[in-house]
Order: sequence, then structure tokens, then C-alpha cells
Amino acid sequence: MKRDILFNAENLVKIKGIMNILDKLAQKYDTDKGRYKTKTGLCAKDYTRYYHEAFCHRRLDVLKVLEIGISHGASLRMWKEYFPHSQIYGMDIKPQYQFSEDRIWTFTGDQGSSWQLQAMMEVIKYCDIIIDDGGHTSKLHLVSLDTLWPWVAPGGYYVIEDLQTCYRPGEYKTMEVLKSQVDACNGRGGLKGIESIMFAKRLCIMKKEV
Ligand SMILES: C[S@@+](CC[C@H](N)C(=O)[O-])C[C@H]1O[C@@H](n2cnc3c(N)ncnc32)[C@H](O)[C@@H]1O
Repeated sequence: MKRDILFNAENLVKIKGIMNILDKLAQKYDTDKGRYKTKTGLCAKDYTRYYHEAFCHRRLDVLKVLEIGISHGASLRMWKEYFPHSQIYGMDIKPQYQFSEDRIWTFTGDQGSSWQLQAMMEVIKYCDIIIDDGGHTSKLHLVSLDTLWPWVAPGGYYVIEDLQTCYRPGEYKTMEVLKSQVDACNGRGGLKGIESIMFAKRLCIMKKEV
């Protein structure tokens, strides 16, 4: 009897989750961070369910979001609508992806260059959320994490996407560093001020203490 109740259609929707507002915005702006394949054929990464879980309580007070990796700007526009009071910053190595519109600012730069990141952050200052969706190599991940973590505001988040790339030959260092942050959450070395670390499918979300 209990089993029947659990698996009726209504409850299945509850278990799998109905589309949240961020899933809908991902679809609207056609980024692959959402639940459905994009119009250009990119597979859905389904990150928005985890992002919404982590960020929904901060929607109105997030003031600065930085994403490494702009491409055509789909995700920057998604964040802009999701965080209505936030400035949205993007950085990409390819100058052709630069654009600006209301509340969106972009920079050209290499996330593998600590001084370029640092110069950008001298302009942007502290961010509530920083997302690494750039070149997805261990070297790029780690230079960016090392340089940008101090610029995460208290209570803010640092995210690395597409962690499946760490399982390519010679690329596992990112996973080692991320796994060691579990010890850091218990006061054993690692990133200064890390409060929590969460892994989901191909995604890692770290939170800094207030
Ligand atoms: C997956 S796309 C970003 C997609 C975008 N975030 C979205 O969801 O709509 C990755 C981007 O990272 C950029 N990229 C690659 N290597 C980079 C590097 N070393 N520094 C900065 N950006 C880089 C690429 O040019 C590309 O535009």
C-alpha cells in the first residue's frame, strides 16, 4: 500500500522534481546548464536543480556573480534574470565573446593566468558567486581556484562545472584538491574559510563561511 502511494504519478513528480525557475530560465536562454537539450543540440547538464537548491534563498541579496566562460552569453543572461539585483560578470579567453548590456560586464582574459584574474578582480572586487565553466583543465581549475577563492565574499560560493574532464589522463589533480577540502571543512588545511563542499553530478559547489 505504502509503495503504491509512493510511486503514483504525483509523487514521482515530487521525487524527480518539477521544473524550478532556474530550469525554466536555462531553457529560455538556451544554456546547457538546464534540464533539456539546447536548440543547438548541446546535451543537458542538469546543473540548475543543484544551483537552485543552493542559491534560491539568496536570490534577492546576491549582488555580484562572475562566470569564467562566456561563449554566447546564454548563462550570463540566465543569471541576470535569476538574480534581479546582481551585476553579472563574465570572462573568456576569446575576445569575440565580449559584450555588454544592462547589468552584464565582460572581460577578455585567460583563466590560467593568475595576474590576469587578479587584475580583473581589482576591478570587480568581491563576488557572491564565482563559477568556473571555462577551459576545464586541471591547471586552469587550480590557478583560478587559488586566485579567485580570496575574492569570494563571506557566505559566498565557488563552483566548478564539468568535473568529468578530471578523469582524462593527467587531469586528476583537481579532484585531489577538491577532495582535500573535505578535511579543510574540519579545520585541516585547504582553502581558507571554507564552510562546506558539495558534489553533484559533474559539479562541485564550495561555500565560504560568513
Ligand atoms: C562551455 S563554454 C561557456 C558556456 C557558458 N558559460 C554558458 O553556459 O552559456 C566555455 C568557454 O570557456 C572559454 N575558455 C576556454 N579556455 C579558457 C581560458 N583559458 N580562459 C578563459 N576562458 C576560456 C571558451 O572560449 C568558451 O567560450
